[in-house]
Formats: sequence, C-alpha cells, structure tokens
Amino acid sequence: MASPVLPWKTKIVLKILSVVTDTVCRPNGTVYRRLLNFLEIKAAANGKPVRGVKTSDVTVDATRKLWFRLFTPTEIPKGGEVIPLPVIIFFHGGGFSLLTADSQGYDKVCRQFAVKFPAVIVSVNYRLTPEHRFPSQYEDGFDTLKFLNETEFDTFGFPANADPSKCFLAGDSAGANLAHHVAIRAGEADFKRVKVIGQISIQPFFGGEDRTESEIRLSTAPLVSLSRTDWMWKIFLPEGENRDHEAVNVSGPRAIDISKVNYPATMVVVGGFDPLQDRQREFYRWLKRSGKEVKLVEYPNGIHAFYIFPELPESSQFMTVARDFIHEQCDKA
Ligand SMILES: *[C@@H]1O[C@H](CO)[C@@H](O)[C@H](O)[C@H]1NC(C)=O
Ligand SMILES: *[C@@H]1O[C@H](CO)[C@@H](O)[C@H](O)[C@H]1NC(C)=O
Ligand SMILES: *[C@@H]1O[C@H](CO)[C@@H](O)[C@H](O)[C@H]1NC(C)=O
Repeated sequence: MASPVLPWKTKIVLKILSVVTDTVCRPNGTVYRRLLNFLEIKAAANGKPVRGVKTSDVTVDATRKLWFRLFTPTEIPKGGEVIPLPVIIFFHGGGFSLLTADSQGYDKVCRQFAVKFPAVIVSVNYRLTPEHRFPSQYEDGFDTLKFLNETEFDTFGFPANADPSKCFLAGDSAGANLAHHVAIRAGEADFKRVKVIGQISIQPFFGGEDRTESEIRLSTAPLVSLSRTDWMWKIFLPEGENRDHEAVNVSGPRAIDISKVNYPATMVVVGGFDPLQDRQREFYRWLKRSGKEVKLVEYPNGIHAFYIFPELPESSQFMTVARDFIHEQCDKA
C-alpha cells in the first residue's frame, strides 16, 4: 500500500488519536466518556482577542445542552474599511460520537477560519452518538440555523457587521455529512433573514453497504479504518437499519431527490489517501446530476482530516481555496 508523505509530528499525533479512539469506542457500542473527558484537551472561550480573534459560548437550547462557540475577528483589515462579514456555521468531525466545539484542535481551526476568510464562525456543539442517535445531530444543526434566523445578532455578541444574508454551512467528515442534511432542510424551509449561499464540504463522511475500491485499498487508514467507520454507522443509525439508509448512502437506492431543493453552491474537498474518497467523488457527481453548482478540490497527498494539521502544506492551500470560494459566492449573492 502506498503511503502519504507525512512529518513525524503528524504521524505521532495520528498514532495517539488511534489508540485513544480504540480505547474509548467500546465493542458493545458505547463510548467511555469519563476516560475521554479526562484525555481530551479542551480550550475555554476567551473574550480577550488572541491573534485577532475573540470567542464566546452561546446557548441555543439548555434542555438538550445545545450551544455554539462564536469566533469573531477583531482586527479591521488594511484600508480601515468595515466590510460585511459572512457567517460560517461549522460542524466538527468525529464520526458523530467524538469531539466537541471546545476541543482544542477545532478551536484552533475555527480561529484560523475567522482570521483568514475573514468571517464570523458559529461552531455548533451538537449531541453525540450513541447517547443520541440519528436524527438528533441534524435537528441540532437545523435548530441552530433557526435560532440564528430568529435572534437579533447584537443580543448575543455578534459583531455589527456580521451579515445573515451571507451564511455558509461547513463541516469536515461527520460534520460535512451533517452540513449536507442541514442544507437540504434549510433549502426546504423559508428563512427570511438567514440566507445559506454556500457550503464547504470537507472530506464528508458517507457510506453504503457495498465496499468501494478506495475503502478496500485503504481499509487500515488512520482515523477512518473500515472497522471504525462500521462501528460509527452502527451506533448512529436507528436499530435494524443498514448503511444504505438515506443519511449514509446519500446518493444510493434510497436517496432524497434534491433536484427541486434550493441547495447551496458547494465545494467538495477530497484527499488521495482518504478511504472515503470514492464516495466523496460520487457525492460530487450526484450533486452535478441533480443540477447543483458544485466544485471538486482534490489533494492527492491528503489523508482524512489533513486540514486540521497546520504543519501539512495542503492545510494552508485549503484555507486559501476556501477563502476564494467564500468571496466568489459573496460577490454573486
Ligand atoms: C459496555 O461495556 C462497558 C465496559 O466493558 C461496560 O462498563 C458497560 O456497562 C457496557 N454497556 C452496555 C450498554 O452493555
Ligand atoms: C425566519 O425569521 C423570519 C422573521 O425574522 C420569519 O418570518 C421566518 O418564518 C423564519 N423562518 C423560519 C423557517 O423559521
Ligand atoms: C450507494 O449504494 C449503491 C447501491 O448499493 C452503490 O452502487 C453506491 O456506490 C453507493 N453510493 C455511495 C455514495 O455509497
């Protein structure tokens, strides 16, 4: 099996993540949360600007512990002109069962988004499996959008120049699956204030009963080996369902017909060492066939989740391409 070119630092982190994942994800379909909470590094919200970004946590619905972390860029770009900022609603990855909006890795990534795009980032802390199965995650995503639609921004610390008519959905891995399903629901709803004009789908987590060529070839890849993804789908889906469910095999036999849905312009990011790549390209082709505006961006040396490793050159390349995509969609809107 060919291997990606990776610095030692990345290899060590991947090894640690694999050991932790295999320890906390139990064979009986439960997650050892107490151990995970002990091992996982969290970042607290910080109202003081650090490298041009301040953060705060906003409650959407306390009864189900639904909240988001708000990332606001604090520096006015050169020229001194205050420009309207797009709002990126971001869903973290972790197979629907791991990680949170305050995991240190995702806090760092969202800080970079806020400065580099620049944009206001809403990083959603949705409920996790197996404690909460499908469709809890999609409901939390959609309800966050509804909350943004209904709440006056200045009541919870959004900057005055945040523009609700320039919203983007974004996510990586399971978060990109979530973003896709929220995009469908948002396209069918009539949000008057909030307008979703684009989607950044980073290495989306999709599946199906049949194995694809890349899944077989890269079956032991880090983070998303076949045994791990099978485990994640099993605890996500309703009891007795298989992976051809419309939430998993989105373009398969039970696919939702989105040809008449007002679906946002989408950028699909694919890595050449990601076992999920065949399904991601199929997702891209399916969006095309459904008549949607979609762009495919490939990183041949990219492993799954490459972009959260700032030491990889593809990570900063991705940031630039995503920034250009956002600007392009904002100009058109
Ligand atoms: C799953 O396994 C763990 C540890 O082996 C055990 O503590 C837990 O009670 C089990 N849970 C269920 C629902 O079987
Ligand atoms: C969004 O908010 C507007 C008013 O601000 C309201 O008219 C509309 O029904 C809301 N949309 C949804 C889907 O809740
Ligand atoms: C969905 O299922 C069909 C039929 O089983 C299969 O041919 C297709 O490759 C699957 N697509 C994805 C994206 O998993």
